[in-house]
Amino acid sequence: MAIDPVIDEAAATLIARGIDGPIDCAIVLGTGLGRTVDELQDAVTVPFADIAGFPEGGVSGHARQISYGSLYGKKVLIFEGRAHYYESGDPAVMRVPLGLLTAFGSPPLILTNAAGSLTPGLRPGSLAVITDHINLNGLNPLIGDTGDGRFVPMVDAYDPHLRMRLKKAAASSGTNLGEGVYMWFSGPSFETPAEIRMAKLLGADLVGMSTVPEVILARRFGIRVAGISIITNMGAGLHGGAPHHGETRDVAAMATSGLRRLLRAFLSEL
Ligand code: HPA
Repeated sequence: MAIDPVIDEAAATLIARGIDGPIDCAIVLGTGLGRTVDELQDAVTVPFADIAGFPEGGVSGHARQISYGSLYGKKVLIFEGRAHYYESGDPAVMRVPLGLLTAFGSPPLILTNAAGSLTPGLRPGSLAVITDHINLNGLNPLIGDTGDGRFVPMVDAYDPHLRMRLKKAAASSGTNLGEGVYMWFSGPSFETPAEIRMAKLLGADLVGMSTVPEVILARRFGIRVAGISIITNMGAGLHGGAPHHGETRDVAAMATSGLRRLLRAFLSEL
């Protein structure tokens, strides 16, 4: 991607605010997962609103700030909340937040989200590592990008090595971690039962409204990426699933202890 002055400016803001050290890992926290950062030490916090090119607005359950500090012995940069396509109609809305990681040595990126499950093996309240995705929205954050670099390969987009480390961390911390293919729906309305049946037929295990454009952007920037879903509900119409935002927020918040345990083991072993 072309050198972008807005990304440079965003990185300069973080450096000026004291985020100038190494980053071992970057983490995006999805809906209701903010409390995962309670244990961050020596934290420096910068609101998204203070950084050029960062998305405005917000969704309840998201703090919308960057926090940098030590977590379980590693230096981490945490995006507390993200912007979604459905807020602005821009699939590249996370371009600057993710692009600025290139100014910090392109650390591995862990994307978390709340997701609906399409399979009985992935129960609400549990965690799953994303193995692959399906994007049939006709949207892509790289539309309008130029040069051959826009033709980003997407085999192993969800980094096999990071996935393996997450599984090891799950085993060593006694955390139940399933896995599955995530299908991106634009939102903000939830899916219909017919759409959920379609997604299942197409091979999806999880559905959600984020992450996919971020993975595409991260791969464009050459950043290694992994995705973890907190399953908040069964997909619409499945086993009584009738998802709504309050449920997403509340179940995700209740499941943070598992995510915290997993991240603690993952970071300690990184
Ligand atoms: N669908 C889409 N997004 C979601 C869901 C869902 O069922 N649950 C949490 N985020």
